[in-house]
Amino acid sequence: MTENIYYKKLDWKILPKNIHDELFILAHSSENIRPTNRRGRDNYHHYLLPSSIEQWCRSNLPIDHRYVCRLQRFFDTDHIPKHIDQSRTATFNYLLSETGPITNWFIEDQLIESIIIPQHQWYYVNVSITHSVNHIDQERIALCVFMPHDSEYPTSSSIKI
Ligand SMILES: [Fe+2]
Repeated sequence: MTENIYYKKLDWKILPKNIHDELFILAHSSENIRPTNRRGRDNYHHYLLPSSIEQWCRSNLPIDHRYVCRLQRFFDTDHIPKHIDQSRTATFNYLLSETGPITNWFIEDQLIESIIIPQHQWYYVNVSITHSVNHIDQERIALCVFMPHDSEYPTSSSIKI
């Protein structure tokens, strides 16, 4: 039987300071915000990356053209309720905001695993199993790289801003 992996620290390249700072500014601006399927919620934004940062990701991370790169920000909420992501089975996350939020996984409502993901490190996160995030004290900003189920999922280069 294969054991589920819920998360895993990766040795992917950390973001240069200038990119980190640029993403932080972007996460607090209204530029490049994309519509999401989380309609009716005003505590979540996700953003296309500026092309220079997108290019950095594609040159420095072990990803191919099937992956998309997004910046996401949760704010004005202290938790993300239990859910399973519909568009992907896994995401590779790089937390830009301060560490603190706790990611939890559940099987049949039983808490199975938890982690406080550290800042400024890449983590594989399994989002195909029921999960939640709590203790979001202020905001949670992360760069997310993932392979969407839908091959038609728009990539940055195919979207006209
Ligand atoms: Fe999720």
